Amino acid sequence: MRVRVGLITVSDRAAAGEYEDKSGPALRQACAEYGWEVIAEALVPDNEEQIRHSILSFSRQGCGLVLSSGGTGIAVRDVTPEAIRGIMRVEIPGFGETMRRCSLEITPNAILSRGLAAIVEHSLVIALPGSPRGAVECLEFVKGAIPHSVKLALGEPTSC
Ligand code: MTE
Repeated sequence: MRVRVGLITVSDRAAAGEYEDKSGPALRQACAEYGWEVIAEALVPDNEEQIRHSILSFSRQGCGLVLSSGGTGIAVRDVTPEAIRGIMRVEIPGFGETMRRCSLEITPNAILSRGLAAIVEHSLVIALPGSPRGAVECLEFVKGAIPHSVKLALGEPTSC
């Protein structure tokens, strides 16, 4: 199946132009390697309303998969999980569990990420950490489950 992707970089500093967005391009390249089509991209500050707006807009544009990077930690401005939980139908805990379990073998700081996945409207939304390396690593750990999850999110027939 064709996985159509929307990418959202969540970062106050990158959105203000103080800092170059490296996570968005890193995820775009990873998606290309997996054979997925990136059809929409956004760069937003750590603001719940703007994060939600981008997710809903990408979902309505037909992105079966929405990947965010950033804002999953414990800094005062980190609100990506709250933004997603405010609009999701269901959370899928296995994605967050897997990302943390596998990442902890790379860095103890992985325990700080509140990364998660959820179904929002007809999309699978995955919140990845903000560092380019962390975002790509976490995507790699869960990518095997993504095509099937996207099919279910889109309401397409599946074998289970
Ligand atoms: N997970 C992986 N695989 N690799 C990483 O480099 N960085 C961690 C963590 N998860 C990291 C990772 C760090 S340092 C932080 S602070 C948290 O993700 C949260 O990052 P965020 O607030 O930018 O989303």
